[in-house]
Amino acid sequence: MCGIFAYLNYRVPRTRKEIFETLVKGLQRLEYRGYDSAGIAVDGPKKTTHDLNNNSICLIKKKGKVKALDEEIYQKDLVDLDESLHTHFGLAHTRWATHGEPSALNSHPHRSDKNNEFVVIHNGIITNYKELKKYLITKGYEFESDTDTEVIPKLIKYLYDNRENDSVTFSTLVERVIQQLEGAFALVFKSRHYPGEAVSTRRGSPLLIGVRSEHELLTEHIPVQYKSGHQKEEVHENSHNRTDSSNAINSNGDGKPVEYYFASDASAIIEHTNKVLYMEDDDVAVVKGGELSIHRVNRQAGDDPVRAIQTLQMELQQIMKGNFEAFMQKEIFEQPESVVNTMRGRICFDTNTVILGGLKDHLKEIKRCRRLIVIGCGTSFHAAVATRQILEELTELPVMVELASDFLDRNTPVFRDDVCFFISQSGETADTLMALRYCKERGALTVGITNTVGSSICRETDCGVHINAGPEIGVASTKAYTSQFVSLIMFGLMMSEDRLSLQKRRTDIINALKVLPELIKQVLAVDEKIKEIADELHHQKSLLVMGRGYNYATCLEGALKIKEITYMHSEGILAGELKHGPLALIDKHMPVIMIIMRDGCYTKCQNALEQVTARSGRPIILCCQDDSEVIKNAYKTIELPQTVDCLQGILSVIPLQLLSFHLAVLRGYDVDCPRNLAKSVTVE
Ligand code: F6R
Repeated sequence: MCGIFAYLNYRVPRTRKEIFETLVKGLQRLEYRGYDSAGIAVDGPKKTTHDLNNNSICLIKKKGKVKALDEEIYQKDLVDLDESLHTHFGLAHTRWATHGEPSALNSHPHRSDKNNEFVVIHNGIITNYKELKKYLITKGYEFESDTDTEVIPKLIKYLYDNRENDSVTFSTLVERVIQQLEGAFALVFKSRHYPGEAVSTRRGSPLLIGVRSEHELLTEHIPVQYKSGHQKEEVHENSHNRTDSSNAINSNGDGKPVEYYFASDASAIIEHTNKVLYMEDDDVAVVKGGELSIHRVNRQAGDDPVRAIQTLQMELQQIMKGNFEAFMQKEIFEQPESVVNTMRGRICFDTNTVILGGLKDHLKEIKRCRRLIVIGCGTSFHAAVATRQILEELTELPVMVELASDFLDRNTPVFRDDVCFFISQSGETADTLMALRYCKERGALTVGITNTVGSSICRETDCGVHINAGPEIGVASTKAYTSQFVSLIMFGLMMSEDRLSLQKRRTDIINALKVLPELIKQVLAVDEKIKEIADELHHQKSLLVMGRGYNYATCLEGALKIKEITYMHSEGILAGELKHGPLALIDKHMPVIMIIMRDGCYTKCQNALEQVTARSGRPIILCCQDDSEVIKNAYKTIELPQTVDCLQGILSVIPLQLLSFHLAVLRGYDVDCPRNLAKSVTVE
């Protein structure tokens, strides 16, 4: 959902070529967030500059992927690539279109005017842009794009043009801008009026700052400067309160060389530094004279007066593709390890105990609650569907599973004695985040299950579990799903530790978790067979996936994987609903996958199979190894190792992940960048 990257080198001489490479590499790391168009802003070459303090800003923007932008940069032949810049600040952006079609004009950075006095990159949506645009047009500002973002550089120029005196600071202008904005944003600003200075801010969209310095940072905590004073100001001439941000905090040491990286997520920063600072909503971070300071207007109750510099626990190789064709394929094959990482240090197989450190202090409260509500979107919602039955059994509580958007649309009643879980790989999904705020306002205990340390959901929930699946770059979620699944099961096990009647069940599940990585490896070994099936199916228009009970979620998730990366129509059908409508679709031409495992629904699934074959259907069946009864009615089978019923969904989803991957490759699509989609959906 748009990737932001910016790079500032202060007293660290870098050639233009190195600066371009850093910006482009940053965008490549973030490309999964959007890939409709991309652009950069750098200081213009001095030799062609005739105006204003000799500082000009050069914008290069291109429709298409980052690769197209990279080629454009070198084709421009505008600049001396070997020119060394002692201090420089560059912006870069990769876009996922929300307002305005993908085009060079609509791509970021957006500018205030033809002289590029202020330029900005934005991730999010400005919901009141129409009113602001109307107002700015009446003041004579001309717009060139169809985006919501463009009001931001125009607005800052308007405030600059109407400044009370020449000492107004860049950060003050940005503070004034964000007081007028509604919606969600992460923003980084650059201006020819403030050369070498970077200002960034966020509300609702993620933004972090990486710091690289050869010298020890003077402090591991950056104090936050609160300014008393202004509520939202009306935009009109000469109305600005003067706020002085001169009192910057020296995080760097006097004028020592330092580099700063601003990014939507850590994957773009980790190859440069593991020291990062996560910005909070309404923080305004300023780098001036090599010093980083954080400002905000008005202190709110509960505000932390410092921002900690944290050390990222991520390795560069985790975000590289290695020998795989696509990130998605790599992530599917990582699952034997990613589920181990989810369980590491949390399950004691000798004593049958499960401890989730992030929840243990809240366990009593959770046990007293009146119901659990598990909320997510897309694949994360499917993880909730997959584990609902076992959570009901192990917690003996009613469990509601909810799509975040629908939950909000219905104004669902939520009470103080509810416990609400928010499942999100990115931890930034706007619908899930809004549902979280909705539940918090109503006094419920909120629990985050996320894969992204430092994400908004992670920070705003009362407690939670990191699924520790490692960075997931492929837009189609795979390993995060299985780790979310395991995390929710572990929660159920933790809740049932003192239930005597459930001990046998718990032991079976814990024993099954122990061998789960090995069983996943066995499932991955059927890849060749799945490739052959994909070869047969890849010209089809449609693919149905049927099952029930513990495997219904697999049907939903398998169908989602197929439609999102192969663009085939695919539907996950609850086999119990077959005769209430979907059976009409069945004939010898309709490809059907049926999931029939030896569990409580086995006989019912066999009935569904009879109904399909009686209509000349030719089902491809996912079943347990050596199930001769089922195999004899199958057109083709994919045999899987058997595990305890509530974990079978982890094994049954993997062949469908692989199938969708092979289908997409055979159909000639870019697996990691499906059209119209982006990894982290930070808009409603
Ligand atoms: C599908 C997929 C999406 C996400 C959904 C929620 O493969 O990735 O359906 O699951 O957008 O995203 P998170 O989990 O980041 O909240």
